[in-house]
Amino acid sequence: MLGVPWSTGVRRRDDGVVAVAGVGVDALAARHGTPAYVLDEADFRARARGYRTAFATAFAEVGTGVDVYYAGKALLTVAVARWAREEGLRVDTASGGELAVALRAGVPGAEIGLHGNNKSDAEILAALDAGVGRIIVDSLVEIDRVAALAASRGVVAPVMVRVTTGVHAGGHEYISTAHEDQKFGLSVNAAPSVALRQAQDAPVGTTDSPAMRALLAVVERPGLRLLGIHSHIGSQILDPAGFEAAAQVVLRLRAELAERTGVLVDDVDLGGGYGIAYLPGEVPLDPDRIAKDVAGAVAAVCGELGTPLPRISIEPGRAVVGPAGLTLYTVGTVKPVALDDGRVRTYVSVDGGMSDNIRPALYEAQYHAELVGRVSDAEPVLARVVGKHCESGDIVVHEVQLPGDVRAGDLLAVPVTGAYGRSMASNYNLLTRPPVVAVAGGTSRVLVRRETVDDLLALDLG
Ligand code: LLP
Repeated sequence: MLGVPWSTGVRRRDDGVVAVAGVGVDALAARHGTPAYVLDEADFRARARGYRTAFATAFAEVGTGVDVYYAGKALLTVAVARWAREEGLRVDTASGGELAVALRAGVPGAEIGLHGNNKSDAEILAALDAGVGRIIVDSLVEIDRVAALAASRGVVAPVMVRVTTGVHAGGHEYISTAHEDQKFGLSVNAAPSVALRQAQDAPVGTTDSPAMRALLAVVERPGLRLLGIHSHIGSQILDPAGFEAAAQVVLRLRAELAERTGVLVDDVDLGGGYGIAYLPGEVPLDPDRIAKDVAGAVAAVCGELGTPLPRISIEPGRAVVGPAGLTLYTVGTVKPVALDDGRVRTYVSVDGGMSDNIRPALYEAQYHAELVGRVSDAEPVLARVVGKHCESGDIVVHEVQLPGDVRAGDLLAVPVTGAYGRSMASNYNLLTRPPVVAVAGGTSRVLVRRETVDDLLALDLG
């Protein structure tokens, strides 16, 4: 095993070639080409099971159950959705496209959730028609829209209300979602002044928070069934304290709603965001530990409030699929560049770049890279792995030591690209998006084929 941050099926063979689940990267490159996203199926399944078991066990100990939703935004293909389901997970979708893939995979509507801060009517109707288990509403206006669309279909819509708890956690600002100044959810805090409350669209005289007003609005609408409260505090979170703090806020809101309306909602969803290791030496969140901590916090607050425990759900995406994936590239141009401080940086260009992994450019995300097609005794050099796009910010790995004899034709792999790699890929410079290849038990299989220039031309109607 190469160890963290590589997937568990990655080993370097005696001949120096790295293999994923028994298939050498030379064979993968020959068969599927590069760049390619390579998924270690057994690793994905083990992580999915790991989260489910850890949370089911910890919450059973305090007396309630858990549903684990795989957050499809991290990577959703028909096979991936099936793997998630086979491992006992449900699927969280964030658009009509993700919903369609989950349904195509045979995930029952009842086991799917639909998110989104700006769902279209078509998306809401598709969710209602599929009988999704939960629509997570994100604004006061959406409550009326869902109610009207449900009425038009003659159904009752199962709804959760997404709230923002004020707990700020996670990596880059763009991926931390529960602080107030952003687009998601409904705040549990009422604005302090009348003027600001007007901005929250609050009726004159009310001091209710937008979250409370949304919950009351759902309770009042006969076409909506209030399942519970949802909170997602951010992504790539490595400190469990944020989850516990958010759970406390949500459970207090639940108790307050029960006191005011007699409605004690059954479900509390604590979202995703579990942090993983991207670099050697980093320590990911341990699902067993986080599950125990959160279960303990939930039980303690419910005890304090005197309310029965709700059923809990969580929505991990990155932690399930991130470490299961790597991107396989072929090295092209290698260029030493003299730095002002006297050092030399070797720019190693690969045959992909920011179109297959936008995370370094968007979040300054750090990745690791290694030569995987051979071993080398050459002295390591300070290298920067860059892509082939017409942009100097097209960096795949900012800083990494690579053997000094790195050269065109070498195979290079970047681990932990399973989450938010393919799902955020683009066609910048009209590059064709790489395939998603699954490897298991010594064989590889294409889950999503490589795009071709013909695919691109077919979209362009001239
Ligand atoms: N649930 C909800 C409501 C979410 O908004 C998200 C992520 C998740 C679950 C899954 O979070 P995870 O367990 O994967 O951290 N593109 C960014 C991440 C954006 C996450 C957005 N929401 C990145 O590449 O880091």
